[in-house]
Amino acid sequence: MRVIIEPDSAAASRRAACFVAELVRKKPECVLGMATGSTPLLLYQEMIRLHREEGLDFSHVKTFNLDEYVGLGPAHPQSYRFFMNQNLFSQINIDPNHTHIPDGRALDFEAHCRLYEQKIKDAGGIDLQILGVGSDGHIAFNEPGSSLGSRTRLKTLASETIRDNARYFGGEDKVPRLAITMGIGTILESHRCLFLAFGPHKATAVRDTVEGPITAQVTASALQLHREVIGLFDEAAARLLVRRDYYAEVEISQSLLEQGRHRELGIGGV
Ligand code: F6R
Repeated sequence: MRVIIEPDSAAASRRAACFVAELVRKKPECVLGMATGSTPLLLYQEMIRLHREEGLDFSHVKTFNLDEYVGLGPAHPQSYRFFMNQNLFSQINIDPNHTHIPDGRALDFEAHCRLYEQKIKDAGGIDLQILGVGSDGHIAFNEPGSSLGSRTRLKTLASETIRDNARYFGGEDKVPRLAITMGIGTILESHRCLFLAFGPHKATAVRDTVEGPITAQVTASALQLHREVIGLFDEAAARLLVRRDYYAEVEISQSLLEQGRHRELGIGGV
């Protein structure tokens, strides 16, 4: 995993938006995988700014969200469809028909999840998947113990997640118990992942994901098997990483490569 540590979440989100913008400019009909929650909010604000001020064009972009609460329709203020419309889709020029989110009101879950996977395949797969992480190390709603080969399916929320999300619902008893979520296997098939984590409460999850063993108990650790993950953290979330010096060295090499300063890296020497 490439690890980029920025001083704060605003700087890290701007950096994340650069990766999104680079892709959208290079491949206007690209497929983005979207996340919800507090983590991607600044990234979405920056994407909106890029659209308004720099004309970043989302008209051909397709999106697939990671998950949705079971039982909540699009008009429910805590549904992820509502969140996406409010915080991103209504503020950029994306075609609403190009945005996909699992339907929390589906009755035949198996058929709905199969169809969701098929739609991702038909779109050519996800080019760039945006990910946040739960304090228990989950990505999407793949709670500890989820199969690392899992596909889109129904999932029971862990008590830690219910506790974490109670603030949005006004109490733990109001948080839905089930969600539809992309699986770890689905996420691993995306071409590139942007893995974001901000704040001291994410430090353990970041350490376990990046430097811990690959285990179903920390489903984000499966990202170590992915071909191209960029981890973007603020200082607080990165504070338990032990190989920080090495990650900084890699960024220096990366920047010299991007600037074509090959000689300084010993490329082309005797
Ligand atoms: C939501 C999702 C979740 C969140 C995670 C962190 O689509 O994928 O895995 O990323 O629960 O939530 P926040 O960002 O609110 O801390």
